[in-house]
Amino acid sequence: MSNEEHQGDALENLLQENRKFPPSEEFAATAVAKPAIYDEAKSEGTEFWARQARELLTWDTDFTQTLDWSDAPFAKWFVGGTVNAAYNALDRHVEQGNGDRVAIYFEGEPGDTRTYTYAQLTEEVKKAANAFESLGVSKGDRVAVYLPMIPEAVITMLACARIGAVHSVVFGGFSADALRSRIDDAEAKLVVTSDGTYRRGKPSSLKPAVDQALKKEGHTVTSVVVVKRNGEPVEWQDGLDLWWHDIVDSASAEHTAVAHDAEHPLFILYTSGTTGKPKGILHTTGGYLTQSAYTHKNVFDLKPEKDVFWCTADIGWVTGHTYVTYGPLLNGTTQLMYEGTPDTPHQGRWWELVEKYKVSILYTAPTAIRTMMKWGDEIPAKYDLSSIRVLGSVGEPINPEAWMWYRRVIGADKAPVVDTWWQTETGATMISPLPGITVTKPGSAQVPLPGISVDVVDEMGQSVPNGSGGYLVIREPWPSMLRGIWGDPERFKETYWSRFDNMYFAGDGAKKDADGDIWLMGRVDDVMNISGHRLSTTEIESALVSHPSVAEAAVVGARDETTGEAVVAFVILRGSAKSDDDIVTTLRNHVGQEIGPIAKPRHILVVPELPKTRSGKIMRRLLKDVAEGREVGDASTLADATVMQQIATSMRK
Ligand code: WTA
Repeated sequence: MSNEEHQGDALENLLQENRKFPPSEEFAATAVAKPAIYDEAKSEGTEFWARQARELLTWDTDFTQTLDWSDAPFAKWFVGGTVNAAYNALDRHVEQGNGDRVAIYFEGEPGDTRTYTYAQLTEEVKKAANAFESLGVSKGDRVAVYLPMIPEAVITMLACARIGAVHSVVFGGFSADALRSRIDDAEAKLVVTSDGTYRRGKPSSLKPAVDQALKKEGHTVTSVVVVKRNGEPVEWQDGLDLWWHDIVDSASAEHTAVAHDAEHPLFILYTSGTTGKPKGILHTTGGYLTQSAYTHKNVFDLKPEKDVFWCTADIGWVTGHTYVTYGPLLNGTTQLMYEGTPDTPHQGRWWELVEKYKVSILYTAPTAIRTMMKWGDEIPAKYDLSSIRVLGSVGEPINPEAWMWYRRVIGADKAPVVDTWWQTETGATMISPLPGITVTKPGSAQVPLPGISVDVVDEMGQSVPNGSGGYLVIREPWPSMLRGIWGDPERFKETYWSRFDNMYFAGDGAKKDADGDIWLMGRVDDVMNISGHRLSTTEIESALVSHPSVAEAAVVGARDETTGEAVVAFVILRGSAKSDDDIVTTLRNHVGQEIGPIAKPRHILVVPELPKTRSGKIMRRLLKDVAEGREVGDASTLADATVMQQIATSMRK
């Protein structure tokens, strides 16, 4: 309900947005995607995807059927085909004579650098594949990856893909407990981690979280491979821990990639849903690779011989999977990988890197754009950003002002901005303008990509007319769609396919403008979006009530100018607990421990009661009003009408 109100406000603002930016003739003339692609996709149907799959990937065995949807919603794409992801991302570029092209420019936070050509990266991945196999990891085994943004993260993912092991990357900002539950759910055999990384100029550790996670008996892990990154002392368990440099560096650089079935699992990536337990989103090989390469090439207007691509996302999120590891390497791109934070050692660091590496395509999140906007135009103005020609945004709705700033200050008023909508579940971009074709509008993701069928529907599942809002759905299966939730087929059906008949329910609210372009309005469920990171209100509530001092908790995402949303928690303490500053700090840290620092509530308010309906449902809408400093809305369905009064009073205190 609160989301509808939210949408109401946002709609008002959008209706006033009428700036439009047609592509320049110059850009359009040499653009990768030609306008005809939309008609081709429409007339060819699934054959369009068969063509993309054959053009973009090298198959060992050609597929015999493009799509088998007979067991919907469980899709099979490119049936009968076999393909190796690592061969496609690496070896074939070397075989085609591009071994000397740079694959990765790595810049560490302290300023150390490494460069990997395609030939070198191929060799590293072959060695890692041999090393993992020597540890008993084989096809189908799961490997948990808990690494910072260093080349070994990409090498590990591709080494797994090469041997058919399934990687499950866990963001380094998640706690030991969160790591353990993901290791358990996936039954991982191997964990790849590092001693640590650098954060804001200081070494920060990772290995202790792995030690902590594996302390309790009963896990499935037989080896932990540790990359030496910051040289900090680490605890060592003989028989379990192994240094990367001991086992990978000495491994053979000969390794033949065996092709895997198109539907062989490629990775699991855990993401937050509406219930407390994160879900392991499963992606398979052929379809995921096809759409990753297709979107990376067309959405960013990629010219692999000359572009330098930089996606700032961490490997721990899906954006880092599709647009750091897979899309760019499948397309033979040269990319920049940066370990650190944008303000270390100074606020111009990103722009210094753009200048240094002549980055031509930049892909980042609105929260970063808004932060840099706040730091001021004079910072980017100090650097030569003339190499930039395409700008991408992802992760949350981008407000028109941030979009305008991005285009004007970073893109010299001419680089097209592509606002790309997608999810962990969709695997790759679904809605986005195409540079050189689409007349862009600040704040809108606009049009489904050719081959993708997206709609906005009302409560009843009816398509809404232009000018109206509703729920975002996907009408037809797509190659990189999730194939399920790891170990929980029922939850997969229930979560995505039960809300509307024969349609995928994304969980986002959206609106069609007068031209039929799509504007994303944020989540309509209990998922929050904090700086582009997905967190569930229930997950944080469960973490809070697991603390002995807490009797009940309700969490809401309150609108925030920079981070999009901020976590605000309302807690009722148990009789014995005291409500002072200490308890707030204790509870924040407790959430940090249960989930990770990113989930720590910005504010925790101790309240005597929570607003509930007569059936006992917490009315988060009212709490959101309080958290956002608004007049509290209609409270007439509350079981106890005085509750909001009590909360307001305790807030004033
Ligand atoms: C939101 C990240 C508006 C949306 C790739 C979605 C966006 C969730 C956009 C998925 C965008 C992502 N405009 N909202 N361009 N991109 N979102 O799984 O709510 O981390 O459902 O995938 O982020 O987040 P996830």
